Amino acid sequence: MKRHVLSIVPMLVLGFPAVAAADLDALIEDCDGCHGKDGVSEWSDMPTIAGLGEFVIADNLYIYQDEARPCAESEYRIGDTSRPPTDMCKAVADLSDDEIDALAAHYGNMEWVKAKQEFDAELAAVGEEIHMRDCDRCHSDAGTNPEDEASMLGGQQMGYMRTTYEEYAAGTREQPKKMKDKLDALSADEIEALVHYYGSIQ
Ligand code: HEC
Ligand code: HEC
Repeated sequence: MKRHVLSIVPMLVLGFPAVAAADLDALIEDCDGCHGKDGVSEWSDMPTIAGLGEFVIADNLYIYQDEARPCAESEYRIGDTSRPPTDMCKAVADLSDDEIDALAAHYGNMEWVKAKQEFDAELAAVGEEIHMRDCDRCHSDAGTNPEDEASMLGGQQMGYMRTTYEEYAAGTREQPKKMKDKLDALSADEIEALVHYYGSIQ
């Protein structure tokens, strides 16, 4: 009897992953439908999610489940683009904790692909100085280090970054207190310089 139980336990553990591969594939197809092939965005208003820190992805999916971050309605961009537009809050509403962990591991283990985008070199130089003074402590390597657990900035889509600063300024998206002190002290021109600096990281 004892032997039987012992032999069956590892089978159960190995035989039934928390999220079945086919289910995970269907979820990934939904995410990629908006975020782009393999989570890499080609659209200025859409963030790339491949290569963000695993913790950051999971954390933000829980934040969207709580509807604690603004959710902009968006069209699907690849695959079946006749799917009706939806938003992040709705896209993650029914995910289980295991599915969130599996999606975070999937995208978190991918390489960060920096967006090719146009930027103003003079503004980028001004932005770099502000970054080194105010942001580098938490967003190291021009904001391209996933180990920081502070999301990725260098090479993220500029349109999405602009919207993000607007949400922080309006208080509709929460941010760390120490970051808020730094951002609130900056002028609109300085924020725009930061957008160009992070956009210049390619
Ligand atoms: C209908 C389009 C759409 C779908 C489907 C979608 N997203 Fe998003 N996602 C967005 C948009 C747009 C944003 C930018 C913020 C916002 O407007 O909510 C975003 C933001 C995010 C962010 C925050 C990025 C950051 O840097 O903070 C993560 C993480 C994310 N999505 C992951 C996912 C995952 C995982 C899925 C699949 C379960 C998914 N998204 C499905 C449109 C979509
Ligand atoms: C005390 C540490 C700290 C400092 C200083 C800081 N940040 Fe952050 N930042 C964070 C953390 C942590 C997050 C992730 C918050 C989240 O996921 O909701 C973040 C997120 C962000 C995001 C959102 C990224 C995304 O993909 O949605 C932007 C943009 C940003 N920071 C810009 C800046 C800029 C610009 C500065 C300097 C003026 C700065 N931060 C200074 C800790 C910091």
